[in-house]
Amino acid sequence: MKRILITGGAGFIGSHVVKHFVKKYPGYTIFNLDKLTYAGNLANLTEIEQYSNYQFLKEDIVDLNALRVIIKDKSITDIIHLAAESHVDRSISDPTSFVVTNVIGTTNLLIAARDAWKEINFHGRFYHVSTDEVYGSLGEDGYFTETTAYDPRSPYSASKASSDHFVRAFHHTYGMDTVISNCSNNYGPYQFPEKLIPLIINNAIHQRSLPVYGLGLNVRDWLWVEDHVLAIDLIFHQASAGQTYNIGGQSEMKNIDLVYLICDCIDRKLNRLSGTTRKLIQYVKDRPGHDLRYAINFSKISNELHWNPTVTIEEGIEKTIDWYLLNEDWLKEVTSGEYMKYYQKHYSNH
Ligand code: NAD
Ligand code: TYD
Repeated sequence: MKRILITGGAGFIGSHVVKHFVKKYPGYTIFNLDKLTYAGNLANLTEIEQYSNYQFLKEDIVDLNALRVIIKDKSITDIIHLAAESHVDRSISDPTSFVVTNVIGTTNLLIAARDAWKEINFHGRFYHVSTDEVYGSLGEDGYFTETTAYDPRSPYSASKASSDHFVRAFHHTYGMDTVISNCSNNYGPYQFPEKLIPLIINNAIHQRSLPVYGLGLNVRDWLWVEDHVLAIDLIFHQASAGQTYNIGGQSEMKNIDLVYLICDCIDRKLNRLSGTTRKLIQYVKDRPGHDLRYAINFSKISNELHWNPTVTIEEGIEKTIDWYLLNEDWLKEVTSGEYMKYYQKHYSNH
């Protein structure tokens, strides 16, 4: 029976992955390893914390010795690696912490797994969750495929690209069973409100200004987080060793159109006069090196593993807004303290 170490399981995507695996596979034991940075929150996991096949481990992926002990003592059979520093704006003000966690942390996790698993002929699977941002920025046309050359342009994407290279290097050099997926921008419940969608929802609910970088013309592809989780489940169980899959939401939008969509939905939900929330939009100084467009060709996972996104951006935004409106306490808790310091520092520069 599998004993899976999931890293970053107290974060946004990781908490959805942990809950899915704990509930769907009662025969597996799931160990959630997380350092609990500002982005990690055990309140994301309350619905499964009592399950007997779940255990939380507060640890740092940079600590190689701790990783060795955990993999051995818990007899870990597989790893799904999501722990990372994940926010582009933070990477611009503090690149080093992205190198430490994303590059050194991932490499240490690979080393610990390699050394533990060489005795069992590398049967363990190491699944690395990565981003489409490693491919760089598209113009108005085209899509990223699995063979698009890497061209990262922010400290965040440079650190994720580097970690992807280390994962492939461990497959080729040591014969480890690794798989990688590169996905587009996720959204849904439990996302920390520093990323665009939850930040706009939080500010819109509280009638604060809605910061749109530059002219709002940058394009992102939006992936409903639970669709991403289903893709991870399929890839984890069915992909062959060394494979890479792109995962996309088939929901490309200009930032400004997405912000309009959120504003109009908030007007309806909170019985505001139509157009009221849009008046809060404020165009602010652009992000340095702001990638223009990300778009994913996900035909490989669609053809080989029969995965396709199921939630449209309109449905997903409505469900997300409903969740944030119902979970004001969660929002209040994560936006107190350190978050306010970050918010004031980052947005006062604009
Ligand atoms: P997140 O920032 O919400 O969560 C990251 C988690 O990692 C947090 O719980 C944090 O405490 C933990 N963590 C950070 N540093 C750690 C360390 N040194 N040791 C142990 N734990 C540590 O991130 P997310 O949005 O859930 O993203 C998860 C993964 O998916 C990341 O690898 C990210 O690069 C990738 N990804 C995210 C998106 C997206 O849109 N959110 C898109 C593509 C890929
Ligand atoms: P973000 O959610 O940070 O994801 P990423 O940079 O990884 O794509 O940002 C999504 C888009 O929204 C990106 O083009 C930057 C833009 N953006 C704003 O316009 N205002 C904001 O306050 C934030 C956080 C992002």
